[in-house]
Amino acid sequence: MSHLILIGYMGAGKTTVGKECARQLGRAFEDTDYLIEKKAGKTVSRIFETEGEFAFRRMETEVLLQLESTSDSKVIATGGGLPLRKENREILKRLGIVVYLEVKTETVMERLKGDTTRPLLQYSDREQRIEKMLRERDGAYRLAADLVISADGKSPEQIFKELERLTGGKL
Ligand code: S3P
Repeated sequence: MSHLILIGYMGAGKTTVGKECARQLGRAFEDTDYLIEKKAGKTVSRIFETEGEFAFRRMETEVLLQLESTSDSKVIATGGGLPLRKENREILKRLGIVVYLEVKTETVMERLKGDTTRPLLQYSDREQRIEKMLRERDGAYRLAADLVISADGKSPEQIFKELERLTGGKL
């Protein structure tokens, strides 16, 4: 099944861009965080609190495996840490075209100002943490991706157009 999958760090715009792509392509939109929350009956923050990050990472793999068996072609936004597991990167490759939305620390800081829903960013040294995680994760994102698009300062419409151009209208 050829889905369009968006990966990248928190605040990269995977959900907003994903919804725009789904609208333009007339496809259904899915978000792995949302699917996990629905299945677990609690928020991502609550899952981290009560069951821990490891359990959440396991749920990400389960949800990906489920998406593999859907019959229609969807647009899928993923949680920022999902491509870090090799197992997940392999499933992503099978799922379809994987697009890495690359962003700078400044963009993440600006977009997630005041956000309380990301457990990994609820610390006073947020900026340093983002910088470090972006550095650590970039390699895994690139390994998982078929295409890389810089998302800083771009609207969802602009990113969709760029994506169409890069894929030669074969989305
Ligand atoms: C995470 C990103 C979040 C969510 C969880 C962990 C991460 O998703 O899955 O808080 O490890 O980067 P978004 O990228 O949609 O914010």
